[in-house]
Amino acid sequence: MGEPVRLAGPLAEVIRAAQEAMGEHEDQVRADLERDSRERRAERIVAHAKLVTSEDFRRIVRDDLAETPALGWVKRFLASSSPRARFLWLAGTTGVGKTVACLWALAGRPGRLVTADQVRRAYGQEHDEARAIRNYVEDCGLLVIDDVGTARDESEGRALFELVNARQGGRRKTLITGNLDRATIASRYDQRLLARVQHSGGIVDCGSNDLRRRV
Ligand SMILES: Nc1ncnc2c1ncn2[C@@H]1O[C@H](COP(=O)(O)OP(=O)(O)OP(=O)(O)O)[C@@H](O)[C@H]1O
Ligand SMILES: [Mg+2]
Repeated sequence: MGEPVRLAGPLAEVIRAAQEAMGEHEDQVRADLERDSRERRAERIVAHAKLVTSEDFRRIVRDDLAETPALGWVKRFLASSSPRARFLWLAGTTGVGKTVACLWALAGRPGRLVTADQVRRAYGQEHDEARAIRNYVEDCGLLVIDDVGTARDESEGRALFELVNARQGGRRKTLITGNLDRATIASRYDQRLLARVQHSGGIVDCGSNDLRRRV
């Protein structure tokens, strides 16, 4: 009866050592997966890194942001598979986290970001580069149109109307950001554009809490 007692000591040690090794291995696998995922997230948005501070960029990649109204709207929008959740126009004053929320969205899935000014120029011209931009903004997965409302004439509204029309009906989602409040949006843009956005999505208010000023 003494023999099994002598064996139990080393056996228990072997088991403990194996469990530790497996634990370390699991930790390693988890760390590798996390690193891969961060690299992929960084790659998807690196072209737009200049739109935010380097600290914001790191927090977006690490998925470590505060829950702002803008981020909350974007998360709910992306989680919805409803045909009424194809367009989301983020309204609100400067510094409320609209661009950060859109980059967070792009870090997690394939898509593109263009400025409203690039869209305006792409739809107003007929050269190869303009055509190429039109092709990708109409076809890409998630599209972010950043900073609408800067043009003084109607060219931006016309371009947005064409783009929204081209993306309507499909399953792809479009995020639009701008510094205009909802009343100004309603008075500045053509009803045909607003009706399409509202039919398949909505214009939401991201508040007026300027996070830049608090830094
Ligand atoms: N979710 C967040 N968590 C932590 N900080 C944030 C978050 N969103 C924004 N910020 C902070 O607020 C700053 C401004 O954010 P952002 O550039 O997205 O604002 P915006 O609404 O796009 O402003 P603008 O209308 O001027 O383009 C960021 O640089 C960052 O420091
Ligand atoms: Mg912005």
